[in-house]
Amino acid sequence: MERIILDVDTGHDDAVAIDMAAGCSLIKIEGIIATAGNTVLKNSLENTLNLTDALKLDAPVYAGSNGPLLRSQVTAGSIHGQNGFEGPVFGPRVKQVQDGNFIEFIIDTVMRNPGEISFVSVGPYTDLAIALKAEPALARNLKRIVLMGGSSTLGNVTSSAEFNIYADPEAAQIVFHSGADIYLMPLDCTLNVVLNPEIQQRLYSVGGKAIELFKASMTYYIESCRRYIHDYPAMHDPCCIAYLIDPQMFEFTNEEIDVETKGDLAYGRTCLGRSLTDFNVHFARNVNTKRFWDVLCNSFQQLKERIG
Ligand code: BDR
Ligand code: CA
Repeated sequence: MERIILDVDTGHDDAVAIDMAAGCSLIKIEGIIATAGNTVLKNSLENTLNLTDALKLDAPVYAGSNGPLLRSQVTAGSIHGQNGFEGPVFGPRVKQVQDGNFIEFIIDTVMRNPGEISFVSVGPYTDLAIALKAEPALARNLKRIVLMGGSSTLGNVTSSAEFNIYADPEAAQIVFHSGADIYLMPLDCTLNVVLNPEIQQRLYSVGGKAIELFKASMTYYIESCRRYIHDYPAMHDPCCIAYLIDPQMFEFTNEEIDVETKGDLAYGRTCLGRSLTDFNVHFARNVNTKRFWDVLCNSFQQLKERIG
């Protein structure tokens, strides 16, 4: 059983990460934190509450940070749409935001369960950086940190920077230097997990409520990726959950990572140091995509059995 705190900026591929985790009995979600990233906090929170309500997920949903530590806020409306999760239509919902502060939630949950909790961040790393600053001992009490972000080559926002790092480079620098055991899913890996028509058909044929929402969201996402990226969408964020479910599907190298926080042109770039075995960031280089789609398909099947 993998116990996780999941930090999201929902977001189309964030939603798939939630689907994958919610549908897998090997994952126990202790809590979800919605943060600003793809869209402003209000939308990210609304989108996360709507989806978790529809999935009948009983994990608490906290409001995270409403912007990055230092830089001015950037969002990804061109890809994810005006509300950050255009496509699916949700009915009235029961689920409400959890009372309480996300920083206290992180610190309490991790410190009461030393070595048990993995922190999974698939948006900008602002919330985790704030918690690590407030309680540096989190780094050695977390089982591990699993992150989506970065690239060893080109970025996807600028030629140098990937979105999650670009949206809060100073937070990313804090996290990479926290001393925690980190598994990073960069573009080098996630861009291989492409939702092509064959995979769409396979997933859509599972059917059920979760697939209906997924289909509506992917119909929008596919069109915006065709317009802006000229390709089918990559399933970036669910790679973090897939790692926890079936780690053997990924290939890693160990890296020392610094984030460029000074330069204009390369602001937000993940700079890789020497490849040695004692460096704390496990940098995903590749993934067995067949195993990835099997895991996602299985989660949707489980969700269908649970919620129809
Ligand atoms: C990352 O940026 C966001 O738009 C996605 O949700 C993902 O977390 C990919 O660069
Ligand atoms: Ca995201």
